[in-house]
Amino acid sequence: MDADAWDARYAESPQWSATPNDLVAAELGALSPGTAVDLAAGEGRHAIWLAEHGWAVTAVDFAEAGLARGRRAAEDRGVQVTWEVADVVTWRPHEPVDLVLLAYLHLVAEERRRVHRTAVESLAPGGTFLLVGHDASNIAEGVGGPQDPTVLCTAEDVLADVAGLPFHPQRAERVARTVVVDGVERTAYDVVVRGQRPSGS
Ligand SMILES: C[S@@+](CC[C@H](N)C(=O)[O-])C[C@H]1O[C@@H](n2cnc3c(N)ncnc32)[C@H](O)[C@@H]1O
Repeated sequence: MDADAWDARYAESPQWSATPNDLVAAELGALSPGTAVDLAAGEGRHAIWLAEHGWAVTAVDFAEAGLARGRRAAEDRGVQVTWEVADVVTWRPHEPVDLVLLAYLHLVAEERRRVHRTAVESLAPGGTFLLVGHDASNIAEGVGGPQDPTVLCTAEDVLADVAGLPFHPQRAERVARTVVVDGVERTAYDVVVRGQRPSGS
């Protein structure tokens, strides 16, 4: 989907919950706050949650209407987030950051690789990279998420994307998540990759 299509979705109604994804909260909840970038932040649920936990966050998305919802929610909740309307394929932060988060950003392989490499290159030494998304296997085995296989990937794809960069993987796997569809419990499959830029690199 392009920026106009996402904008139309966000203009029509809220798209996501106001609370963070469970994997994101579990992976990041214990980190000491610093500077963070939420790439493809949408309505900013993770950026706002991080800001509430003391992070100085920049939320980037090409859908202005999504970020506008985020800005209003941040004001209501009394937290400060920097909102930037930009294409994450070409955007990069001015300074290295302590955390880059990518949650449910689904791009074709060439763009994905570029974003993943930029994300790792944007980390300060000791900084954390966290990616959570729909796993490539979710189309055949799971439920929900994009049904276009060209925009889905595995943990191995993400590790291959950042090969050769200073990156120490801490977690790279497929994770099952229970969802209720029409009153019936189903399983969705997510990909999670977390790693660090080694200190001193
Ligand atoms: C499924 S939503 C996830 C939003 C948010 N990360 C969350 O988990 O709530 C995907 C987001 O990716 C954004 N997006 C997709 N491609 C993008 C691109 N090239 N540049 C910036 N944002 C992009 C869309 O606008 C949308 O907000």
